Amino acid sequence: MNDKARLTTPHGETELPIHEGTMGPAAIGIDRLYRELHYLTYDPGFVSTAACKSAITFIDGEQGVLLYRGYPIEQLAEQSSFLEVAYLLLYGELPTQSQLDEFSDIITHHTMLNENLRDFFRGFYHDAHPMAIMVGVVGSLSAFYHDSLDIHDPRHREIAAHRLIAKMPTIAAASYKHSIGEPFIYPDNSLSYTGNLLKMMFAVPSEPYEVDPVAERALDLIFILHADHEQNASTSTVRVAGSSGANPFACIASGIAALWGPAHGGANEAVLTMLEEIGTPERIPEFIARAKDRKDPFRLMGFGHRVYKNYDPRARIIRKMCHEVLDKLGDANDPLFELALKLEEIALADEYFIERKLYPNVDFYSGIIYRALKIPTKLFTVMFAIARTVGWVAQWMEMIQDPEQRISRPRQLYVGPVQRDYVPIEIRKASEVSS
Ligand code: SDX
Repeated sequence: MNDKARLTTPHGETELPIHEGTMGPAAIGIDRLYRELHYLTYDPGFVSTAACKSAITFIDGEQGVLLYRGYPIEQLAEQSSFLEVAYLLLYGELPTQSQLDEFSDIITHHTMLNENLRDFFRGFYHDAHPMAIMVGVVGSLSAFYHDSLDIHDPRHREIAAHRLIAKMPTIAAASYKHSIGEPFIYPDNSLSYTGNLLKMMFAVPSEPYEVDPVAERALDLIFILHADHEQNASTSTVRVAGSSGANPFACIASGIAALWGPAHGGANEAVLTMLEEIGTPERIPEFIARAKDRKDPFRLMGFGHRVYKNYDPRARIIRKMCHEVLDKLGDANDPLFELALKLEEIALADEYFIERKLYPNVDFYSGIIYRALKIPTKLFTVMFAIARTVGWVAQWMEMIQDPEQRISRPRQLYVGPVQRDYVPIEIRKASEVSS
């Protein structure tokens, strides 16, 4: 902690500490502000508010930089694997080969679900959105795994983290199989993390199944890119839930729920829906105009970001991947990819987007690859949730061990009615109520 900030207000003045991190903007400590000057700070959406200290992920939004535990996302995408990145995010350092082998083996042997959960899936109607199933099933895991619920026991925390990372693909695949009326496929311990997911999703008991190495590597790379992203909406939700002492399975279920929104992880599904609605390059100007019209709630899905005011480095990597994966999978001329490229070109040349520094984000191109891998659109955000579970559990573990963390309980600027007396119903007049 170095310099101080001086604050002068009608109630008096005070000095506030400035907290310096290792990289990125410093933060002014305001925790004493209410006690000393009886003021709150007002920051809807937490645009300028740091809710915690974290050593996991660093983003420089102006430069388009993303580091996991200090390692650039570009290098990890090029040279690492999802489980190696999972180890890095959880434990803070890249594993040795024996550490990675042991970690992979642990994850592999936690992939099965309690057999009674099969009945839980059957309770959902066939057209249930897979994200609705994920929220329900992940939250229910605390009903089965009582030996990893004590958040103050490091061993419990670690087992819960391993179980969540391992079981998300199994739950995702089961939610897909349920939606198409096919039998669940059990995990296959001889396969990689993403190879196993592909087999559980696309194999059928009556046929042999061969994992496509192109699809396996593409999914592994996309999972690396989605693994963590500092204090985004769903991670902040996990931290808030965890701050009350809720069990890890409940916290991750809350993160899945928050991720589902189209402004966040639901954007990848919304991008595909938007591209299909646009249909042809000739209609792009119409949608660009709608995106710019304040009166129209339509936004260009997959564009813009709270932190990145430059090209999202993950989007740059996925955009390059699209060319490679589509070529290898034989969809080189996917019309939706061509349309996405054209839409990006037109938007990035438009003053509205330039002025607001709106660039494609991670969700703009990911759906193109998922589609090429024959993953149904309704499962796109589920794929995001599988990968982000690593970040959620890493951030949850960091929060639990942070001595400065306490229950998250923001205040408010009250703008409701001042105190008034009860009116007996006999003399009450009907009043306009806004919904
Ligand atoms: C993810 O936080 C994370 O890190 C998230 C994520 C992660 O890995 O966890 O990166 C993953 O969620 C990526 C974002 C996916 N969402 C979308 O693609 C949905 C479309 N994008 C927007 O909804 C929006 O850009 C947000 C939600 C992403 C960011 O919203 P902000 O930071 O609150 O920005 P804003 O709404 O204040 O926008 C600033 C201006 C506004 O115009 P003015 O009021 O200044 O005139 O830009 C406009 C907005 O109307 N704007 C857009 C736009 N995004 C912002 N206009 C048209 N289309 C858009 N997509």
